[in-house]
Amino acid sequence: MKKLLKQIKNKIRYWLINLSTPSNEKISFDTFSLYRAHGSITYRGVLYSKCPFDYVLYQMILREVDPDLVIEIGTNIGGGALYLADLMDISGHGMVHTIDVEKKSDALAANHPRIKLFTDGWENYDLNEAKKYSKILVIDDGSHFAESTLGAMKKFAPLVSVNSYLIVEDGIINALQLSKLFNGGPIKAINDFLPTNQDFIIDRKWCDFFGKNATFNVNGYLKRVK
Ligand SMILES: C[S@@+](CC[C@H](N)C(=O)[O-])C[C@H]1O[C@@H](n2cnc3c(N)ncnc32)[C@H](O)[C@@H]1O
Repeated sequence: MKKLLKQIKNKIRYWLINLSTPSNEKISFDTFSLYRAHGSITYRGVLYSKCPFDYVLYQMILREVDPDLVIEIGTNIGGGALYLADLMDISGHGMVHTIDVEKKSDALAANHPRIKLFTDGWENYDLNEAKKYSKILVIDDGSHFAESTLGAMKKFAPLVSVNSYLIVEDGIINALQLSKLFNGGPIKAINDFLPTNQDFIIDRKWCDFFGKNATFNVNGYLKRVK
């Protein structure tokens, strides 16, 4: 009898818990919802359209590599450059060279002492600008067209230090069914680049950190290994 009473009590408790559980606790997000939201992400109030997973990975990578120069292709409003420069402030050294084809950077980025803006496209960046730096990391976040991405990769890869990264952003466009618009986009560029550039490997540590290619930089964390 005691046992039966206990069972009934437990059943009632279970019903009550279920009754009080709001139905909106359902979890639902995917690549498309992340993509929609990422376009509104800001850093210090400046637009920084970044997948939140990659946001976290960047600060870990910067901590690990500790570069004295980050070259960012594609400045846009400057949120990314600002984030990188602030991280460098914490480590106490380093510069960000951020390149675009337009002058649209927010003043917070434009006036940051660790940021140098270039507005003439990656094609016209003078590699001598990077000469005095010893540990260099490069991010391609430019047009995302396959040919342009591959061109930038070929130009900047020799600058990347051993054990540092050439990060190719936004291969996610394939999963979003947008790759045709970019002639194959970053993933085509990566696939064309790797067979003839064996100093680089895809670093699965970062690509798969949150799950298999749970990143917008699909197969895009390229580590220079030799
Ligand atoms: C995705 S946005 C960059 C976002 C930025 N990295 C951030 O974190 O906020 C791409 C930028 O690449 C720029 N771009 C396009 N072609 C370029 C080129 N040839 N050289 C440098 N930047 C280019 C565009 O003007 C645009 O501002």
